[in-house]
Amino acid sequence: MNEQQAKQEITSLRAQIAHHNKLYYEEAQPEISDYAFDQLLAKLEALEQQFPSLSSADSATQTVGGTPSKNFTSVYHQHPMISLGNTYSPDGVKQFVERIEKQLPATTTIHFVCELKFDGIALSLLYKKGRLYKVITRGDGVKGDDITENAKHMIANIPHVITGDNLPEEIEVRGEAIMSFSNFERLNQARATTGLEPLANPRNATAGILKTLKNQAAHHKVLDCYMYSLLLPGSELPSHEIHMKQLQTWGFPIYPTYQKCGNLANIMAYIHHWDTARATLPLPIDGVVIKVNDIAQQKQLGLTAKSPRWAIAYKYKPQNLATTLAHVDYQVGRTGVVTPVAHLKPILLAGTIVKRATLHNASEIQRLDLHLGDTVFIEKGGEIIPKITGVDLSQRKPNSQPVIFITHCPACGSTLVKKHHKDLYYCPNIEACPCQLQGLLQHFVHRKAMDIRSIGRKTITLLLAHKLVASPADLYTLRYEDIYNLEGFQARATQQILEGIEASKQQPYERVLFALGIRNVGEVMVQKITDHFPDITSLAEATLEGLMQVPGVGEEIAQSIINYFQDPGNRQLLAALEAAGLQFTRKLPKPRHTSYKLAGKHFLISGTFTTWGREELKALIKEKGGGIVTAVSRQLDYLVIGDQPGPAKVQQAQALGISTLNEKQIQQMLLP
Ligand code: IVH
Repeated sequence: MNEQQAKQEITSLRAQIAHHNKLYYEEAQPEISDYAFDQLLAKLEALEQQFPSLSSADSATQTVGGTPSKNFTSVYHQHPMISLGNTYSPDGVKQFVERIEKQLPATTTIHFVCELKFDGIALSLLYKKGRLYKVITRGDGVKGDDITENAKHMIANIPHVITGDNLPEEIEVRGEAIMSFSNFERLNQARATTGLEPLANPRNATAGILKTLKNQAAHHKVLDCYMYSLLLPGSELPSHEIHMKQLQTWGFPIYPTYQKCGNLANIMAYIHHWDTARATLPLPIDGVVIKVNDIAQQKQLGLTAKSPRWAIAYKYKPQNLATTLAHVDYQVGRTGVVTPVAHLKPILLAGTIVKRATLHNASEIQRLDLHLGDTVFIEKGGEIIPKITGVDLSQRKPNSQPVIFITHCPACGSTLVKKHHKDLYYCPNIEACPCQLQGLLQHFVHRKAMDIRSIGRKTITLLLAHKLVASPADLYTLRYEDIYNLEGFQARATQQILEGIEASKQQPYERVLFALGIRNVGEVMVQKITDHFPDITSLAEATLEGLMQVPGVGEEIAQSIINYFQDPGNRQLLAALEAAGLQFTRKLPKPRHTSYKLAGKHFLISGTFTTWGREELKALIKEKGGGIVTAVSRQLDYLVIGDQPGPAKVQQAQALGISTLNEKQIQQMLLP
C-alpha cells in the first residue's frame, strides 16, 4: 500500500470509528460488536504505525471515544479517565507481561491483580468529608456528564455517606455501573408491555437509563456499581490490592472475584477459568483486566496518551458458531410490526441451545443475502437473543432459494405496508388481524393495564378462535355460557373471569388509556398526558401543537395519538368501552378546602413542575380556596410559571403587570 492509498484507508477507518463511537457512547445503540470495533481500531493503529506521517493527535487511536452529552452539565475530571489497551489473544497477554518485565529493573518482583472487566458504564464518584457529592461519566476522558442525581436514584449499592478513621477530606473512586441480567430481563419485559423495543443488552440498558432525564420509579435501584480504582490526594497506599481492601472497609462494593497473580501462567489460568465460569455470573462481563499491583511500579511504567502501560484488558471474543438456516418465519406484534425470525438447526452456544435468531427487519435479510439452507454464523455477544452475523458462501447449495421478505401478513393475509423512516413493515389490519388482536387483548388485560388476572394468553386465544371477541370491548358483552362452553372451563373459572371483567370497569382512566395500546403511549407517557388532558374527550380533540405542549411528547408521539383518534374503528371501540362503563375521566382527590388562604385569588398555571403534576397543583390551589383560570386576563392575580411555560402567556401577563410565581414561591404560598 502506498501513502496515498493508506491516507484514503485511514480517512475511511476514522470516519467509521467516529460513526460507531457515536452510536456506542451517545446513542447507546451499537450496530457492530465490540470485537468488530476493536478490529477497525487495530487496523487503523497498524496503518498509523506504518505511516507515522499520517497519524494525528486527535485520531481515535489517541483519544477516548465518548463525548459528553448535551442534556447534562459537563464537568472536568480531576484526573483524566483514560482507557485500557486491549487484546483478544493469549499472546497479547504474554507480550504485555514480557514488556513489563523488560521495563522494570530485573531484580524487582512483579505481582499482578486480575479482575473481571465489567461490561457497563465507567463512573467517577467524588466524596468530600465522606459525603458523595458528584458522579461523573467518562465522557471524552477529560470531561464527562454530571449524573449525580440519576446515579443516586438508580444505583442500589453505592454508599452516599462513608465513614472511617483514616478517611481523607476528598477521595475519588472509580467503578463500573452495570445492570444484572435479572434486572435487565425485568426491564425489557416492562418495555414490552408498553410496546417499546427491547434493549439489546445490559450495557445499552445501563447507558440508556443513566441518560434519562427524569428519575422514574421503574429505574429506582436497577443498577449496581463495582469499584476498581481509588484515587487518593497526596500519599498513596502501596498497592492496588490494598486500595481494594481499603475501599471495602469504607463500605464500597467490591466484586470478590479479583485475584493476585505472580506470573503469566496464573494470569492465563484466571482468564480461562472465567471464560467458562462467566456463564454463571449474574452480571455481564466482557473480559478480564490485568493490572500491575505495586503502585510505585505503576508510576515507573507510566501512561501512553490513551492508556496506562501497567494494565491491559483481555477481552473474550464473542462466541461465534456456524449452523444451518432452516427457515424464516414472521411474527406480528401488537402494533402490527412484522419481525422476521430465523429458525436454525439447534446448536450449543455460550451455554445455551440456540434455535432461533433475530433478523430485525427486511434490510437485514438483504444485507446478509440470506438463502434457505445457508450455513450461517451465529453470534452471542452481550445480547440475549443471538444474531446472524454472516453467511458462509462457500457452503451455499447451487439452487438454494433466497429468503424474500413476505408481502402479506402471515396471520390475516393483508398486504403489508412499509414505514420508510424505520425500515419496518406493518400489517395494516389493526381491527381484524388475529395476531394483532391477540397482542392487543393481552396488553388490555395486563396487570399494569386493566389488570384482569383471570384472563391469560390461552383464554384469549380460545376466545378469538371461537369468535367470541373481536375487540377489547367485546369482553364486556361476554355471557356466562359463552365462557362456560369453552374447552376446560368450569363454573368457578367462568365466574372468576366475569368478576375480573366487571371489576376492571373501576380501573382509573390512566389505566384505561394505557390499556388502549396507543403506539408510543406507555405507562410514563400516560401520566404526563392525563396531567394535561384529564379526560378522553379533550385528548381526542387535541391538536398536534396542543399535544406537543406536554413535556416529553414530541411530534412522533403526538402524531400517533392523533392517528389513533382519527381511526373510525378506534372511535367505535372507545364508544363501546364508554358504554360498557369504563372510566374516561381522570379522578382527582376532591378538594378538601383545608383553609381559605388563597380565597378570591385567581391563578393561571403554565409549564411543568418538579414537585407536582399540573392537575395536582391545581387541586392544591383549589384546596386552599384559590380559583384556576385558563387564560390571561385582568382578573388574573398570579401566573404560576414552571419549566417551559407558554411564552405568549408570560408576555401577556407581563404586559398587564400581573405578578408571577415560580415553583418555590407557589410552594411557599401553599404552606399552611
Ligand atoms: S481499570 C486506568 N478495571 O473498562 C485503568 N476498568 O476499556 C482504567 N472496566 O474505562 C480502568 N472493569 O469502564 C478497570 N476491573 C476493571 C474494569 C474496568 C471494567 C472498564 C472501564 C474502563 C474500560 C477500559
